[in-house]
Amino acid sequence: MTGREGQVHEVRSASEMDEVLRCPVLEKRGHGNSPHAEEFVLAGTLIYIWGDEHRRRRRMYAPLVSAVALRDIEAWLGPMLQRRLDALPASADGRVRADVLTLARDVSLAIAARIIGLDDMESLERLERLGELGDRLVASLKAHLEFEKAPGMQGASPEALADAKARFIAIRIAEAKTAKQCFIDEFYRPARARREALVERQRAGEIEQAQLPKDLITLLVTHDAQLRTEPSWDEDLPVRECTMTLAASDHTTSMAACHVVADLFHWTAAHPEDRGRLTDLAFLRRACNESLRLHQVTDPATNWRHAREDVTLKNGRRVEAGDRVALWYGVGGMDADYYGADVASFNPWRAESGNLRRPYGFAFSGGSKVCLGLALVVGSGGEEDARADDFRGDLPLMMQAFFAAGMRPDPERPAVPRSHVHASPADAREILMWKTFPVIFDGLGK
Ligand code: HEM
Repeated sequence: MTGREGQVHEVRSASEMDEVLRCPVLEKRGHGNSPHAEEFVLAGTLIYIWGDEHRRRRRMYAPLVSAVALRDIEAWLGPMLQRRLDALPASADGRVRADVLTLARDVSLAIAARIIGLDDMESLERLERLGELGDRLVASLKAHLEFEKAPGMQGASPEALADAKARFIAIRIAEAKTAKQCFIDEFYRPARARREALVERQRAGEIEQAQLPKDLITLLVTHDAQLRTEPSWDEDLPVRECTMTLAASDHTTSMAACHVVADLFHWTAAHPEDRGRLTDLAFLRRACNESLRLHQVTDPATNWRHAREDVTLKNGRRVEAGDRVALWYGVGGMDADYYGADVASFNPWRAESGNLRRPYGFAFSGGSKVCLGLALVVGSGGEEDARADDFRGDLPLMMQAFFAAGMRPDPERPAVPRSHVHASPADAREILMWKTFPVIFDGLGK
């Protein structure tokens, strides 16, 4: 440490952001954006730790997104998507109407449950129950952001507002703590007990290693002794690893699905020559990456990196030990020098320039703290040069299933945006979210 007051460096260019994310002496320490609920949902989990402890935990997690695991997920995903679509009820006029947000949420929850290792998740009721508990956990993480002046608070004193905000947050946290206990009783405990019994049988030589489930709870059981030696260990940590994974994977994919659908509806209206490509996975992978680049689906708040040592970046910027670097993931993907002059519009045929290989911009962060779900969401291998054994990505696969079922906009019920937040304090560009996204499936029903 230098002893001087640490400076803040704002990074906006794609190449510098990429370099900062990869730089080993610029560390992400904790999450920092959810000050109230961290201790019972996120504390000590993969997303919250750094350095050697993070490297060890990341290695523990690696089998969840290995090529073998992703191939298993792909083999399961296709039939599961088809079952979900076939189960959609037809309206009185015989048409099948649905909401992309709800449909994609159910699919994302089913994927999250499979990765975590929750049992008996075939029924929609169990999925919805998991979603309800997940919503309450996430609401506590966002409580400090979502508090708006309650009715009757206009003109209230700063003290009264602070008091109302504290009460609002306290209620969200109490609800989330109840939800966490329900998650433990209804989902985690039975799943863990089954896996502990299986691991015991495997250790006794009664079953093969390959017969163990490939999920997070199994990894938490098999790595129990190692986890107990970690600085972040307490008896509740394994539960929090599950609540963290649920929170990280749930609404991100479903919101991204709405953005891709919206972008593709607009694109094909203006480019009818691409309509025939709506079931072509290479095209859909391009579209998903481009849509993720344009629309941030994660928390738009500042992401910080802390300098452990002095470092000089390629452009000459000197960052000294104790300084912090401020990043906005939604901004790095809007660098016209890298993505071209039409950077603010959706173009699935956008050419890659330079060598960053980030067609999705900074949607998944980067470096050692890159999103664990990256390959799961967008696929492994390149958009065009994917090999037969590459995973094609749950988002493109979901889009392929939806478009193959004849998805089109519902002319009577336009999609409704939910809210707009700014990409960064200095960036007037708005980030769009969706409240509802009604569609019709012409290929389903009578
Ligand atoms: C469209 C979908 C998704 C997007 C855009 C996304 C984006 C991100 C971003 C930006 C981060 C870094 C957060 C930060 O720096 O504070 C992150 C971390 C993470 N994501 Fe995702 N995510 C998605 C889906 C998923 C899924 C499906 C999973 C499930 C496995 C997942 C698991 C994680 C985990 C475990 C981390 C923490 C990684 C670490 O710190 O080592 N994400 N994600």
